[in-house]
Amino acid sequence: MFYKLLPIVKKEVINNKYFIITFSNLEMAKQCHPGQFFKLKDLHQELPILPRPFSVYKVKDDKISFLIKVVGLATRYFFEKALGEDVALLGPLGNGFQIVRNKKVMIVSGGIGYAPLIFLDIELKKEKNKVFFFHGGKSSEDIFSENVRNFTEDGSTGEKGLATDGVENFLNINQIDAVYACGPKIMLKKLSEICKKYNTEFQVSMETIMGCGLGSCCGCSIKMIENGKIVYKKVCKDGPVFDGCKVVWDD
Ligand SMILES: Cc1cc2nc3c(=O)[nH]c(=O)nc-3n(C[C@H](O)[C@H](O)[C@H](O)COP(=O)(O)OP(=O)(O)OC[C@H]3O[C@@H](n4cnc5c(N)ncnc54)[C@H](O)[C@@H]3O)c2cc1C
Ligand code: FES
Repeated sequence: MFYKLLPIVKKEVINNKYFIITFSNLEMAKQCHPGQFFKLKDLHQELPILPRPFSVYKVKDDKISFLIKVVGLATRYFFEKALGEDVALLGPLGNGFQIVRNKKVMIVSGGIGYAPLIFLDIELKKEKNKVFFFHGGKSSEDIFSENVRNFTEDGSTGEKGLATDGVENFLNINQIDAVYACGPKIMLKKLSEICKKYNTEFQVSMETIMGCGLGSCCGCSIKMIENGKIVYKKVCKDGPVFDGCKVVWDD
């Protein structure tokens, strides 16, 4: 697999924190599965040297979109790029989510964790699943759609409080077969406790900081318990989707 240099065919600025960039490539688009990611690199900038990973946000025909939060150098450069300017893309990479069929499922996102879950939502619905989508953010700036159940910490949009509190209340009175999530570690840890309590399957996309992105630096390692033993997995090579009930969250 090689990097492809593609022009930005669409750019949408959501607010000063988030934006969406879209590229067109039928071959890549056809291969995308929810939960997979691409590595993106601005070849016109020397720094940062390493490409950055971004989840597939939406795929339609030949178009692949990424929802990106501006946090540092690379994301700032992508934010500042104009329509028609090029970016080097490698992907799709990683395992992605396992899609169940004819089940009742929950999707839970926190902040930019929303990015890989919209594509998942579409594919789960195609497989006749009943989907309940809960999203949480600090304030209205972190809310992307009115079509999901939104929670904000400051109460500026949606329900005031944490998405995980909403999830727990929901699971108290509803039977759910699987939970899919992506978001901050503290939210995922809480969800894993909830899923264990309600004996619910839990698939989680891990957005750890990546180094080489090739499986050789161990910069993206996470700790898991498998068959009673501690094992280390690499998000870039073995993931980014894992059984959230087996992840050791305290490290
Ligand atoms: C599999 C995967 C999928 C991802 N999908 C998306 C996505 O769809 N949209 C999106 O906006 N981001 C996503 N990320 C995170 C994204 O890769 C980072 O935000 C990006 O690499 C930051 O690059 P930068 O040069 O702008 O920031 P840097 O200068 O590298 O970092 C700026 C600050 O952000 C912190 N930081 C960097 N990366 C992360 C991270 N992964 N988690 C928490 N803090 C971090 C750094 O510690 C630093 O404080 C994903 C990460 C992974 C591993
Ligand atoms: S980022 Fe180097 S091993 Fe995963």
